[in-house]
Amino acid sequence: MAQEQWTAVDTYIADLFIGTDFALEAALDSSKAAGLPTINVSPAQGKLLHLLARVQGARSILELGTLGGYSTIWLARALPPDGRLISLEIDPKRAEIARANIARAELANAVEIRVGAAADSLQKLLDEGRGPFDLIFIDADKPGYADYLKWSLKLSRPGTLILADNVVRKGAVADAASADENVQGIRKFNEALAAEKRLTTTVIQTVGCKGYDGLALILVTENS
Ligand code: SAH
Ligand code: DHB
Ligand code: MG
Repeated sequence: MAQEQWTAVDTYIADLFIGTDFALEAALDSSKAAGLPTINVSPAQGKLLHLLARVQGARSILELGTLGGYSTIWLARALPPDGRLISLEIDPKRAEIARANIARAELANAVEIRVGAAADSLQKLLDEGRGPFDLIFIDADKPGYADYLKWSLKLSRPGTLILADNVVRKGAVADAASADENVQGIRKFNEALAAEKRLTTTVIQTVGCKGYDGLALILVTENS
């Protein structure tokens, strides 16, 4: 019952506040046709990312985990005309699909997708002297999150907003004895957030068409 109701309300919200959106719908259609898993953020969550990026006034965004570029499109649309987004994806096939989806959304000039393990791409970004980014969205492999937090701090400034997807995992995150490596990865990440004095953090629990999960909102408040 709960899931049915969450989906119905998500549809209601999306109908009211998002409506028909050709590029976003085409991105989901092409991702589905290519057999990608449907683990993209929901429309309402995508709009939340978009709103947060606009409130932040983000001109430079870093995303970890591109998949088919659905969240990428939402975030890139929040950028001013000279804004840029870099998205990291380990799977070249996914990156290729995302590039086509992003081009269809007329965002090809604003978005760069880098293929490779996020840890390697992050090191390269640092070596290139990139950053600090105004907003960082962490949504790649969950066991890597604690490591990605360390890199994110190096690519941040006081005022950077870090967002992290999937930090509640149907509530399993509260189970210290969980045997799920994704849950343990998220628990390690959340503990690192809590221990980090340079960060001001909370987690919002979310329900909707993607089930029950959560988003971490993290403000970098001191130099890192
Ligand atoms: N942000 C997307 C969903 C990302 S799903 C959206 O909401 O639309 C997570 C993605 O991270 C997958 O495409 C997966 O291939 C990628 N990924 C997994 N491990 C990775 C790694 N080590 N480095 C970079 N990307 C990784
Ligand atoms: C998974 C990954 C995600 O980024 C997500 O939003 C949902 C599920 C997963 O790997 O299962
Ligand atoms: Mg996710």
